[in-house]
Amino acid sequence: MALLKIARLGHPVLRRVADPIPNPTAPDVVQLAADMVETMIDAPGVGLAAPQVHRSVRLIVFKVPRLRLEEGEPEGPEAPVVLVNPKIEILDPTPSFAMEGCLSIPSLRGIVERPRAIRYSGVDLSGEPVRVEAEGFHARVVMHEVDHLDGIVYLDRMSDMAKLAFDDQSHHLLE
Ligand code: NI
Repeated sequence: MALLKIARLGHPVLRRVADPIPNPTAPDVVQLAADMVETMIDAPGVGLAAPQVHRSVRLIVFKVPRLRLEEGEPEGPEAPVVLVNPKIEILDPTPSFAMEGCLSIPSLRGIVERPRAIRYSGVDLSGEPVRVEAEGFHARVVMHEVDHLDGIVYLDRMSDMAKLAFDDQSHHLLE
């Protein structure tokens, strides 16, 4: 396994639409996923998309730590999940506002509006189909990472740039 270099905002790979992965069980895909999980944990972060490690392919990894859940939210997978060729369907478009950060945009956080609940699908590294309903933080992480596959970063989703702050000032955003 290896730690991968994380692309930062401004690198064109973050603005490209990533290519589908034809064979999710291919050894190079399995290797990339393992390296991305290691890189995400080391960063540390809760999600990483392949374009963020300079690979323009449709693969994301994420996890849903219990500590990050709002009260009453259902739990998500605490162990890292690998999802290939993910797709999202909105189940509940009710706007939900929460703070996001991004390993490609260090030191900043912003309040981002996203749909409350989704269904995501894709395949795992065995080529088995995955289909999961998610809400709250779990849904948010997946939407954030899938956005990366389409060249979108969370700043693009912000409706109010006054809700952007440095990490150590971000508590003011919740006032
Ligand atoms: Ni990100």
